[in-house]
Amino acid sequence: MWPANLPDFVEREADLALRNTLALPARAALYARITGAGQLEELADFYAPGDRRFFTLGGGSNLVLSGDVDGLVLHMAICGRELAGEDADAWYVRAGAGENWHDFVQWTLAQSWPGLENLALIPGTVGAAPIQNIGAYGLELAERFHALTAFDMQTGDIVRFDRTACCFGYRDSVFKHHGWHLDGRFVITDVTFRLPKAWAPLTRYADVAAELAARNIITPDARQIGDAVVAVRRRKLPDPAQIPNTGSFFHNPVVEAAIAERLLASHPGLPHYPQPDGRLKLAAGWLIEQAGWKGRDLGPVGMYEKQALVLVNRGGATGADVVALMKAVQRDVAEKFGVELTPEPVFL
Ligand code: EPU
Repeated sequence: MWPANLPDFVEREADLALRNTLALPARAALYARITGAGQLEELADFYAPGDRRFFTLGGGSNLVLSGDVDGLVLHMAICGRELAGEDADAWYVRAGAGENWHDFVQWTLAQSWPGLENLALIPGTVGAAPIQNIGAYGLELAERFHALTAFDMQTGDIVRFDRTACCFGYRDSVFKHHGWHLDGRFVITDVTFRLPKAWAPLTRYADVAAELAARNIITPDARQIGDAVVAVRRRKLPDPAQIPNTGSFFHNPVVEAAIAERLLASHPGLPHYPQPDGRLKLAAGWLIEQAGWKGRDLGPVGMYEKQALVLVNRGGATGADVVALMKAVQRDVAEKFGVELTPEPVFL
């Protein structure tokens, strides 16, 4: 199925265990570390949708590997970061898809370009960030996004996606649909952010506000907010280098107002957040905790003791163990609350 004349930079039978933050064992039949768009051009000749499988890997921090990957894994390692432009209202900052997200955020803050501080310490790469529209502490990537460049493996074209074209939603974008991400068709090569000069601190989120108050900071600058966010995340979320995980394992479910009202009548403590369309977002972590899964294991995997929304690998887990726990949690939350939880990571 794969021709013999693949470029030299394509490795065979590559180990992916260290390349996914859940540390699941898996091998890729073919693997290529991509450091420039020229390599994608070479590989485009071999792209055949539905026939040969391509998959793009960033930091592997939002990925569940169910088993070996019978295809070509493109590991994005395109580097570089620069001020791409500036006007009266904003700085436009561009970074290569392979840049580490947190390092990039820290770099923008060191240059005195505020705006990404609430998204500090999110695991993963710059190129993966728009795919699931990363968000935390009252800010989503979409609010700071300007445009991205992607290489179309099917046509060989370089395509620009602006904010409208990305169709951002809650942990969602156009790249999660049409199979574009899973079949590796559009490979994001760089992302440009728009950082408004009229900066205002976003400190509504209770955990961040409490952390700033504890530090006696009343009018924080962007770096101080970034530091507070890092402290809150370190306290609540496990470091994947020590306890393998993919961050939040489920989306916070968004339900019709009538369903939320029924649940709130019997569970007044249920955290809920009104959405612009009148529906309500519920806290999945709370539902999972109430269903008895906080700090509980099933085999070698479990729901984290300090944040029930995070699934952790206690050591030696496989993709099948992750799926078994996911189904058990979904079943118990559905039985107790009638709410369906959908997983956040991509399954491969
Ligand atoms: N809660 C519980 N028990 C738990 C966890 C949470 O009762 O075990 C309650 C909390 O007390 C709080 C509410 O649920 O009232 C929300 O919890 P938290 O503030 O920790 O945030 P989250 O909704 O669980 C979301 C994002 C996180 C992001 C935080 C902070 C999703 C799926 N998750 O979590 O994003 O860091 O808000 O903004 O939207 C990620 O996507 O990987 C991620 C970590």
